[in-house]
Amino acid sequence: MTVEPGDWEALRAAAVEAASHAYAPYSRYPVGAAAIADDGRLLQGCNVENAAYGVVLCAECGLVSQLHITGGGRLTHFVCVNGEGDVIMPCGRCRQLLYENGGRDLLLMTVSGVRPMSEVLPDAFGPEDLNI
Ligand code: THU
Repeated sequence: MTVEPGDWEALRAAAVEAASHAYAPYSRYPVGAAAIADDGRLLQGCNVENAAYGVVLCAECGLVSQLHITGGGRLTHFVCVNGEGDVIMPCGRCRQLLYENGGRDLLLMTVSGVRPMSEVLPDAFGPEDLNI
């Protein structure tokens, strides 16, 4: 499935759909994430919790895994929502995950509008800091 890069409402709808698959019996806080890859591919993820609470997988983890499973590439557009369909901010750890896979130009629909990752995770540590 593909979503046009400027179609934030379609991307948000895909995140809402993803949230309906969340496994969140402990927090009762479903999260859905949706993103577009640089070839137009739509990617989704939902949070998956665990009886060992700290083992929780955020929605972004599944989304990034799907990016790689379906051919790799870079994330260009991203949004995540809660069970009410409200846009939420990715947690700090997941900002780092998204930065690795989309870089500073990744666009995110945030609680304060569409913003680039360079604002959502300023002065990020990233692959360019490693001498490899
Ligand atoms: N959660 C995510 O899936 N992504 C985020 O960026 C924020 C938090 C999930 C983890 C946990 O299952 C629930 O939200 C409550 O923290």
